[in-house]
Amino acid sequence: MNLPAHEVTTVAAALGDILRDPDARARLEALALEIFGPGDRASGWFLRKLRREGVDGSLSSVLRERATGRVCGYMLVGPSRLQSNMVLGAGMGLSPDARGRGLGRALVAATVTRLGRAGFTRLELPAEATARPFYERLGFHAQAPRETWLTYGCARPSADERRAAPAGPWKCASAAVELAGWREEAWIRTPPPKSTVRAASAFAHFSREGRALLVQRLCVPEPVDPHVPAALDMLRSLGALGTPVLLYGVRPVSFITQHLRARCWSMAQRSFPMRRELHP
Ligand SMILES: CC(C)(COP(=O)(O)OP(=O)(O)OC[C@H]1O[C@@H](n2cnc3c(N)ncnc32)[C@H](O)[C@@H]1OP(=O)(O)O)[C@@H](O)C(=O)NCCC(=O)NCCS
Repeated sequence: MNLPAHEVTTVAAALGDILRDPDARARLEALALEIFGPGDRASGWFLRKLRREGVDGSLSSVLRERATGRVCGYMLVGPSRLQSNMVLGAGMGLSPDARGRGLGRALVAATVTRLGRAGFTRLELPAEATARPFYERLGFHAQAPRETWLTYGCARPSADERRAAPAGPWKCASAAVELAGWREEAWIRTPPPKSTVRAASAFAHFSREGRALLVQRLCVPEPVDPHVPAALDMLRSLGALGTPVLLYGVRPVSFITQHLRARCWSMAQRSFPMRRELHP
């Protein structure tokens, strides 16, 4: 696509090393806040996100105004550690004034072309329901949706984060079921503080993300149904009173959502994993 007033280039070429250079990172973080709003974000959230999602600045893109050099859009991606030909998306967006003019399409198209030429064969990224049609227009296919559910901690303050961080991901027993959207590579990359809790053969991996605790994995023994209420109570007891506890990646049709509702959890976010094949 011909972009007379804009160009798409790599994050590394436009800004430098965003993982090591705080000034380069600050420019991208400012754009992220402009795109998605300030929200309830703790200091350091952006670097944690870049690390957890394995973002690679030489594969990721920015959209830049030719005349001023202003960066007004980005598409962050990183190679999968577990599947060598796959790239995972970690967010994309344009500043409000740049939207609705075909620039989002150009940003994605340029990134897809670069990734294909680099030898990757598949790109996967999460999309909220509102962005799903945009990605579908660009050749992505939606997979089964995943939900993030929210509750609030009920433990005494001393109970919060008292457990030692695990050396690596635990192995789920053969007679057990994964109840959350387990992404092993995101867990391996997640910087501390992160920890594991176990109760009655169920266990969970969770990390602290600002004020909230993010449960990245919940593994429950078979037969699952009678164990779910105790496992959910275990999660609530992870956080001090009032601490948001988020359970990531739940399948909306699964029976676990009935248990979540019955225990007054609320659905915080629904996203669709979007998939696109890449060609050289
Ligand atoms: C989503 C976003 C990147 C789209 O960028 P954009 O530059 O406005 O999109 P484009 O102008 O390139 O649109 C490309 C096509 O997608 C369509 N489209 C864009 N956004 C759409 C939406 N939210 N719903 C349905 N269709 C949409 C356009 O109509 C256009 O269709 P066409 O092929 O018929 O012309 C931009 O609106 C944005 O940054 N939003 C906020 C952040 C966000 O939602 N990010 C994505 C989720 S992580």
